[in-house]
Amino acid sequence: MKKTNETVVSGVRPTGNIHLGNYFGAIRNFVKMQEEQNCFFFIADYHSLTTHPNPKDLHGNVRRSLVEFLACGIDPEKATLYLQSDLPETAELYLFLNMYAYLGELQKVVTFKEKARKQPNNVNAGLLTYPTLMAADILIHRASKVPVGKDQEQHLEMTRTYARRFNNLYNTDFFPEPTAYNFGDQLIKIPGLDGSGKMGKSEGGNNAIFLNDEPKALRKKIMRAKTDAGPQEKNSPMSVEIANLFSLMEVLSKPEIVRQYKDAYNDCTIRYGDMKKQLAEDAVAFTAPFRERIEELSADRKYIAKVVNMGKEKARESARETIRRVREIIGFKAFTG
Ligand code: TYM
Repeated sequence: MKKTNETVVSGVRPTGNIHLGNYFGAIRNFVKMQEEQNCFFFIADYHSLTTHPNPKDLHGNVRRSLVEFLACGIDPEKATLYLQSDLPETAELYLFLNMYAYLGELQKVVTFKEKARKQPNNVNAGLLTYPTLMAADILIHRASKVPVGKDQEQHLEMTRTYARRFNNLYNTDFFPEPTAYNFGDQLIKIPGLDGSGKMGKSEGGNNAIFLNDEPKALRKKIMRAKTDAGPQEKNSPMSVEIANLFSLMEVLSKPEIVRQYKDAYNDCTIRYGDMKKQLAEDAVAFTAPFRERIEELSADRKYIAKVVNMGKEKARESARETIRRVREIIGFKAFTG
C-alpha cells in the first residue's frame, strides 16, 4: 500500500507489561497507522529512568516491551521500531527544547504533580522536564500525528507550544505542530478494575488486564472487580465502578452482549456475578492470541536483536537530518579556514 507523507511517532514506557489501556489507547492505532503512514514507534527507556530502575531490570523490561509490541502486530518492515536510547539525537534536541520550556508551565503539568505526590522523595528534574523529552521524541522526526491515550493530551499540547516557540524564535516553519490521534474521533481512557480512574501499570496488578495474563489469574482479577449494591430503580445512573465494567465490556465483548447487560441494568435484573463471568471469558478469549505470540517471540532472541538493529538504523537516519537542520537554524555553524 502506498504511504502518505504524514509522519507518525509514539512510544510506550518499559515500566511493566502492556495492558488493555495501552492497547486500546495507543497500540491498536499504531498497527493500523503503519499500513498507510510513515511511522516511528519506540520503547521510551530514557523516560523510564525517572524511577531509577536497576540496570538488569531495565534491560529485561525493554526486551519484554519489544516482544509485546511485536506480538500486538507492529511490523518492523512497515514501521520503524526502535529504542529511545538508541537515538542520542533525541537527547540533544531535548537539551535545545529545554531552553524554550518554562519552569512555571512545567510545574503545572498534571502528570508531574501526580508523580511528585506519589514519589515525594524523588522529584527529580527528569520528572519535571518529562514533557520536553516527549516533545523531543516527537519533533526529532518532525511528526504531525501522535497516537496516544487521553492521559497524554496535555503533553501533546506542550509539544505544540515548544514547536511554535522554536518556529517563532527563529522565524521558520521547520517543526510541524503535532496533534494527538485516535481512529475514533475521541481519545480513549480505559478504566481500571479497582474502581479508580484509569487502567495503569503502576496502580497494582489487580487494576490492569495485561495482554500476557494467565486465564486463571485474569478470571480471578475480574471476579474481584469492585461493584455496588445494584440498581434500586429502573434506568438509574451508574456508579463509577459499574460504568467502568461496562466500558471494559464495550471494548471486549460483542455489541449484543453489552446491550443485553445494559438492558438488565436498566430494568434492575442484572446480576453482577454473571456480568463479570461474561467479561472474564471475553477478556480471556481476547488476550489468548497475544499471550501465545508473546511466548513464541520471547524465545526468538536473534529476531529481537535484528529488529532493534534495523530500527536503530532507520530512526537515526531521520533523527540525524533533523538535528543537522536544527543546529543550522540555531546558528551552530562549522568554522572554516
Ligand atoms: P505510557 O507508557 O504510560 O502509555 C503508553 C500509551 O498507552 C496509553 N494509555 C492509555 N490509553 C487509554 N487508557 C488507559 N488506561 C491508558 N494507559 C496508558 C498512553 O496514553 C500512551 O499512549 N509519555 C508516554 C510515553 C512517551 C510518548 C512519547 C508517547 C514518551 N515519549 C512520545 C508519544 C510520543 C507514556 O508514559 O506512555
